[in-house]
Amino acid sequence: MTRIKLNSKARAIRDFKMNSGKITVAEIRAMKSRGAKIAALTAYDFPMTKLLDEAGLPIIFVGDSLGMVTLGYPNTTHVTMADMEHHVRAAARAKPNALLGADLPFKSYETIPDAVANAKKLIVAGAEFVKAEGGKEILPQIEAIVAEKIPAMGHLGMLPQHVLEEGGYKIKGKLEAEHQRLLEDAKLLEAAGVFAIVLELVTPPVAKEITETVSIPTIGIGSGENCDGQILVTNDLIGAFPWFTPRFVKPRANCAAEIKSAVAAWKQSVESPLKKF
Ligand code: KIV
Repeated sequence: MTRIKLNSKARAIRDFKMNSGKITVAEIRAMKSRGAKIAALTAYDFPMTKLLDEAGLPIIFVGDSLGMVTLGYPNTTHVTMADMEHHVRAAARAKPNALLGADLPFKSYETIPDAVANAKKLIVAGAEFVKAEGGKEILPQIEAIVAEKIPAMGHLGMLPQHVLEEGGYKIKGKLEAEHQRLLEDAKLLEAAGVFAIVLELVTPPVAKEITETVSIPTIGIGSGENCDGQILVTNDLIGAFPWFTPRFVKPRANCAAEIKSAVAAWKQSVESPLKKF
């Protein structure tokens, strides 16, 4: 066997790639090829990003869901680029091994120049990919982002940024026209170069069909178990936003109750310092 001698720089690059554990877009695509499921969660700040990364997630996502679960807005249409950049910068300071993504917020990708400029801003803030909601109608924007070598993730099904126009969060894929549109949009997004697609509130049979049709990973949220991966809003998973929990989420912790009882105990200790708790 011929052994090629590497110079020190090439050795350093090889060792970095081998040892860093840094998750890349190529790795996320490869996970689908080898049948490995992809677990993704949202984070909007430094400590949560660090915790999720230490738990070994391959994707951490700064979603515009932050508008609802951290900024107190009624839906995601109030989230601005300034909000997203601020939270992406905080999450990126955790330097996660996970691939860190971010949402292009409402109205930030209406035109091709806006889509490209705002995607670049999120990358400068520290995101490693961007996500935009929609199919056929945003293909030129997606193609332009990908042409700039910015990895893009698609998002089909229920599109939270369309909630005002749709009048609620509705399951998609029940009607044959929706089923065909979803399938077509998934294929178009794949051809446009997205490396993965979020399927939100898509009927499980349609999500399964899309997953079997496209070669890129599908990441489901409320779309059944037959997607290549799953994503949730972390606050829902850990019971940190107790005022509303989506029907498809089974919280694995009750952080709200933990916080309240810790605060109550501490408050008591301040108010009656001589009493032992
Ligand atoms: O806004 C968000 O957090 C999202 C993910 C849950 C997919 O879009």
